[in-house]
Amino acid sequence: MKNKIIKNICCIGAGYVGGPTMSVIASNCPEYRVDVVDINEKRIEAWNSEDFSQLPVFEPGLEDIVRKCRGENLFFSNEVEASISKADIIFISVNTPIKKKGIGAGFASDLKWIESSARQIAKFAKNHTVVVEKSTLPVKTAETIKNILISSEQNNENKTFSIVSNPEFLAEGTAINDLQNPDRVLIGGEDNHSINLVSNIYKHWINPEKIITTNLWSSELSKLVANAFLAQRISSINSISALCETSGADINEVAKAIGTDSRIGSKFLKPGPGFGGSCFKKDILNLVYLCRYYGLKEVGDYWEQVVDINQWQQRRISTLVIRNLFGTLSNKKLAVFGFSFKANTNDTRQSPTIDISKYLFQEGAKLAFYDPKVNENQIISAFKDYENEGTFEICKTPLEACINSDAVIVLTEWNEFKFLDWQEIFDVMQKPAWIFDARICLEKDNLKKIGFKVWSLGTSF
Ligand code: NAD
Ligand code: UGA
Repeated sequence: MKNKIIKNICCIGAGYVGGPTMSVIASNCPEYRVDVVDINEKRIEAWNSEDFSQLPVFEPGLEDIVRKCRGENLFFSNEVEASISKADIIFISVNTPIKKKGIGAGFASDLKWIESSARQIAKFAKNHTVVVEKSTLPVKTAETIKNILISSEQNNENKTFSIVSNPEFLAEGTAINDLQNPDRVLIGGEDNHSINLVSNIYKHWINPEKIITTNLWSSELSKLVANAFLAQRISSINSISALCETSGADINEVAKAIGTDSRIGSKFLKPGPGFGGSCFKKDILNLVYLCRYYGLKEVGDYWEQVVDINQWQQRRISTLVIRNLFGTLSNKKLAVFGFSFKANTNDTRQSPTIDISKYLFQEGAKLAFYDPKVNENQIISAFKDYENEGTFEICKTPLEACINSDAVIVLTEWNEFKFLDWQEIFDVMQKPAWIFDARICLEKDNLKKIGFKVWSLGTSF
């Protein structure tokens, strides 16, 4: 028997956050109806696909939840207006990329999708509606949303709004586990009734002790700061990886030695080709913008270094590849393993592979990409505005990418790379055959025994 629906939730934005987050809410709260709406018709079509392998977001565990809830209490549609009209609670989960032009270009978040969502809510909401900021936003954005909503309250006295900030901390690739077992849920607001309403959703499956409530501004700012601190650890360990390569120390040993200090902790100390993903860079640059906006130049400069070191690491790895391949990549084929910004996701946004490839293209390289989850169109569109001297092909198997190549560059830590038949790969490559392991995920000694020349990040041997 179907549950009686007691609350209607609407989520504007069916992306990497909206889709998984609302699926987990629907799964844990069978008496809530959850409508996930989006202006992108193709995306909604994919969420409604009969073939569950075509869901637009790949996340371990997501397919099972969508199978269970879709058509029961979870619905994906383009009916933005109708869903807003009947909702008690509306989550805004739209994209907030960096502004490309105008004031704050290159740093500030572009809030045009937030503004248009707020205007749609102002127009179509009925009665009292709790509006929840799920997107990552600059501190004080609730003020903007409130101003838009208040103007519509004036024309209709039944229409009232409360705003709550409930930032999302999930990481891609582990989204379902992160949503199901979060370290904490953060809820910032101005009135207890709305804070409780949103808390009650999470209390269906999360221990109330893990639900932190704050004022609106602390909640908005904490999300940016959490991402800045996480990214800072990656830039810190990556900066030390370079020092290890010149000093004889081993970055894995150093990471372990410092990470066992409980005050430092062992997580987020994995060196690599720099952080990618849609959020770290954008959120730090947004923090930098905010600091400078409020006159805190030194604070802004401090955080900007985290992004600068990230770019430097990518440039450094590219330069190393070029130097070891005799200073030129002209007419050389290089196999690039991994296009997603990390393993277990098909997301390529800000993937280190993109910028590293561009540096290699500048030297005339021919790149052969292989990634187990990223599709051809994603790779093609990553370079669509980029004119370069190099060319690329997209391969269906790692072996195909390696035929006649001078080197393999590992840029994403997909588990399957560990278990490849490296002897077979060696046999089809040009000699000397190089492996550049920027994720430190391969068995270096075995590869050397086969005959490869191996560079592994953060060691000199
Ligand atoms: P996304 O680009 O995957 O999805 C956003 C969706 O919103 C798109 O499908 C877009 O079509 C839709 N949209 C935009 N304006 C709309 C409107 N007016 N009406 C209806 N739909 C509209 O973005 P995402 O990765 O899901 O990120 C969303 C927000 O969550 C961002 O602020 C991001 O910083 C934050 N966040 C992302 C992650 C992550 O892992 N991707 C994690 C935590 C927080
Ligand atoms: C990150 C945060 O971890 C989430 O808490 C946050 O919600 C999210 O950003 C967001 O706001 O979008 P995500 O970008 O999905 O999540 O993935 P991470 O696991 O944080 O990895 C980000 C990048 O850092 C990847 O390129 C990854 O390879 C790299 N990384 C991560 C390292 O190089 N070393 C590490 O030790 C950890």
